[in-house]
Formats: sequence, structure tokens, C-alpha cells
Amino acid sequence: MGFGRGKVILLGEHAVVHGCPAIAVGIERGVTAEAETSERDLLRLSPWDLSLAPDLDGDEPLERAFAVALAMYPSRPSLEVNVDVDLPAGAGLGCSAAIGVAVLDAIDEALGLERSRTDLATAALAWEKVFHGNPSGIDNTMSAVGGVALYRKGDALRPLHSNKPLHLVIGYSGEPSSTKEMVASVGRQLENDPKRVNKALEGIEVLVRNAKLAIEAGDHVALGQLLDLNHTILSSLMLCTTKLDEMCQTARRAGALGAKMTGAGGGGCMFALAPKHDEALRLRDLLGRGSFVAEVSA
Ligand code: PMV
Repeated sequence: MGFGRGKVILLGEHAVVHGCPAIAVGIERGVTAEAETSERDLLRLSPWDLSLAPDLDGDEPLERAFAVALAMYPSRPSLEVNVDVDLPAGAGLGCSAAIGVAVLDAIDEALGLERSRTDLATAALAWEKVFHGNPSGIDNTMSAVGGVALYRKGDALRPLHSNKPLHLVIGYSGEPSSTKEMVASVGRQLENDPKRVNKALEGIEVLVRNAKLAIEAGDHVALGQLLDLNHTILSSLMLCTTKLDEMCQTARRAGALGAKMTGAGGGGCMFALAPKHDEALRLRDLLGRGSFVAEVSA
């Protein structure tokens, strides 16, 4: 069975596209896939009732990504890959990358090939590029490798360690989010107003560096404050929505140590850091439909 995790970017999204570090976690929820030899190549995605043949020129990114994935295996039989997605799509949890990781993992298994999760992550970047054009690589890396880690484009992943688990509550705004559009929007802002945007990116980098120390020290109060500040900077880049802001406020008022949007923004998900597991469950109920708890050990 192939598996790709969902991910939550704790701090540093968007800045990571421009070479800054970011901190992300792999979560238990994700995508599973199974591949078997068949009469023709086919990708089936069960929750959406989709059956797609690979097509490098297809309209549907999944058709193109499947063709890119299959091209990585030069001599192979025809394959049917059945995918089960347990993540909201277009929601900032790295759904497309998790599908790519799960599909490649499943094909490796069906063909009896072995490779490390790090190599799997590298291979899945080609899949992710079909969806997002210029991805930083954080989604496919966290999806394949998991844990809590500091990621910077071009550097080896740096796992972070702490003796205190992170009690995260992920809330879904129900608003669709397009990574490609949001990344392009920040790119345009950077071009039109480099001084303001570079200042925002530098600010995020400082928060990420402090958050690394806070995670390692188990200081979740400090971490929560850093999350709030990161949310404010992302708002200044016009990446938040009223709904995401409201959800973050609700979580903070109800006792979260901090809360922020996560991923590309413009919709999608936010998350809150809870002080304890039972508090996380309470916050989940407050944040409503589609919310869930992710306990992450660093
Ligand atoms: O919304 P997601 O899960 O696609 O996360 C995107 C993270 C960005 O930093 C906005 C883009 C990237 O490639 O790192």
C-alpha cells in the first residue's frame, strides 16, 4: 500500500517559495494508493469517482501528473492505480503532493522497487510541479518523510526534536484555495512593491527561526505567539479571508495558544495550537465541520 501524508505548515509558507526556511509537520491523515498490472494505464480516485488515463496534454492536472509519474518507469507493464484520498483538496494540507507520493509509492511496491522516503519525495516534486508550477518542495517532502522539520529549498530536511507533542486542531473554512494563484499573487506583489514584501518575508524568516527554538525548548506559549504574528504578516500579504480570520479569533478566545492560516491561503485551512489534548478536542468541536485534531511528536 502506498501512502502520502497530509502536511500542516506551522510557519513560513510563501516565504519558503522565495528561499526562506519554513517549519512543517506531517500528519496521520493522508492518501493511500494501490497499483496493479492491468490491460491499460488508469488512475482511479475513489472519493471523487474519477477514472483518468495518463495524458501529458490533458486538461486535467491529474491526467498530466499521472503521465509524468508513469514516464519515470521506462520499462513497466500497464498499471491501474487506485487512490483513496482522506484530505480536503485545495485546502492547504498538501493534498496534491500526498496523492503524488502515494501513487509513486504504490507503483514502486507493485514493481518491486525500493527507494528511501527522501528519494520518493524528490520524485514526487515532478508530480507537484504539474499542479503548482513553482512549488518550494515542502509539500512533497513532508508528505513522504513526515515528522516535524525545518525545510529550506535546496537544503537537506532538518528534523526538529522535542519531548513535548504538539496538539494541533485543523479547521477547514470550506472556501477553496488555489496554491498556484496565491503563489502568483505574492510574486506579483513582490515585483510591484519589493520593499514591503521583502520586509514581510524577512519578518517571517525571523519568526521561523524563533519558532524552531520554541519547539525544541517545548515552549508552546512562545510558539503560539509566533503563530499569531505569522498570521498577521500573511494577512498583510492578502492571503487570509474573513472566514479564516474569524476561525483563528474563535480559537484564540477559546484558549488556543496561537492560531494561523496554513498553506497557500485565500481559503483552505487554519490551525490552532492547543495546550493539551482535551483542549484540542474542545477547540475542534468549536471550529465546526471538517475540523480535526492532529497530535504530532517532534
Ligand atoms: O496550500 P498548499 O498545501 O499547496 O501549500 C502551499 C505552500 C506554499 O508555501 C504556499 C507554496 C509552496 O510551494 O511552498
